[in-house]
Amino acid sequence: MPPKKKSAYTVPKLKDFSAAALDEAVQNLLAAVVREAGEVKNELEWKTFRDRWMARANGFLTQVNTLWLKAAPKDAKRDVGQRVNEVKKRVDETIAAALASMQSTASTSQLDTERVDITLPGNRRPLGAEHPVIKTMNEVVRVFRNLGYSVEEGPEIETDYYNFEALNFSPNHPARDTQDTLFIANQESKPLRERLLLRTHTSPVQIRTMEKMKPPLRVVCPGKVHRNDALDATHSPIFHQIEGLAVDTNITFCDLKGTLDHAMKEMFGSSVRTRFYPSFFPFTEPSADVQISCIFCGGRGYRDGGPCRNCKASGWIELLGCGMVDPNVYGFVDYDAKKVSGFAFGMGVERIAILKYGVDDIQLFFNGDVRFLQQFA
Ligand code: DAH
Repeated sequence: MPPKKKSAYTVPKLKDFSAAALDEAVQNLLAAVVREAGEVKNELEWKTFRDRWMARANGFLTQVNTLWLKAAPKDAKRDVGQRVNEVKKRVDETIAAALASMQSTASTSQLDTERVDITLPGNRRPLGAEHPVIKTMNEVVRVFRNLGYSVEEGPEIETDYYNFEALNFSPNHPARDTQDTLFIANQESKPLRERLLLRTHTSPVQIRTMEKMKPPLRVVCPGKVHRNDALDATHSPIFHQIEGLAVDTNITFCDLKGTLDHAMKEMFGSSVRTRFYPSFFPFTEPSADVQISCIFCGGRGYRDGGPCRNCKASGWIELLGCGMVDPNVYGFVDYDAKKVSGFAFGMGVERIAILKYGVDDIQLFFNGDVRFLQQFA
């Protein structure tokens, strides 16, 4: 970079105070101020320029006062005084004009840079959309809301009590193992029932709901659950479930069958059939797995001249667990097991979405690949 150019002008000491000598000094000075004014390009430069000329301490005008006016012999003072006043006025005007012209060129160039090209395409602000898992969850919840169910939620970090004990899992129940629970670390000093874990299912919300509401009740409880499962096409350590609970007087297994059969038809189409297969859960007795007729082969077990891969040629797809609430569970929430009865069910949301949308890998729901997600928008 070239060194910054200093003002070449300096105020001369006057020895000769004749009119001609004064004329020349004034002309040189005015030429200098005009030249410098022409070089000002921005506000900073203008301020430096102004201070060089106007600063009280040692600006050129102050120097003019000392070197010209004060130094002038008595008989020249009047003439010098007039010229100095004229000089001050002209310098003042030049500096003001420099500011105005600098501002107007600056604002033109600002206008230039801020000019809007209205022919350019606008900024796209894509609308967000429901995630397929949330969308499926809302659809299932809607089916049950239409049947008069309300929605309850519970914490994702649960105690062993709500996740297992009050659901009739005994301390060494093998089901505790199969859930492959993720426990919060360093809680060995706490009694088992107070230890915190990531809930392995939404069933603890059943207990929380019965603790705060008296029968009759009908609720669905959607939410996120966690298991210590390795990732593969059908397993994820994080997934979602929807729990259902209905407790009233005289609720029977028929009500359970009718409710779930209706829900499956709402979710997968009216031609879908259901089948209840004996199973076991500690908090229901009896328990069942619900199977729906295969939505890919129509329940026939074969498709396109070969066995149906989706139902392994059985014609049935297992979808959820359910059962009549075990009377032991009522004991944990102060319900009178002799007076009330009820059913419960729990289903995996991703599993439903996978079937409904023909997704072949559960990981796709969690990878955040927009190309996948956009298909559900
Ligand atoms: N909590 C069970 C699970 O995660 C699912 C389940 C089965 C829930 C039966 C229920 C039920 O409410 O009655 O495997």
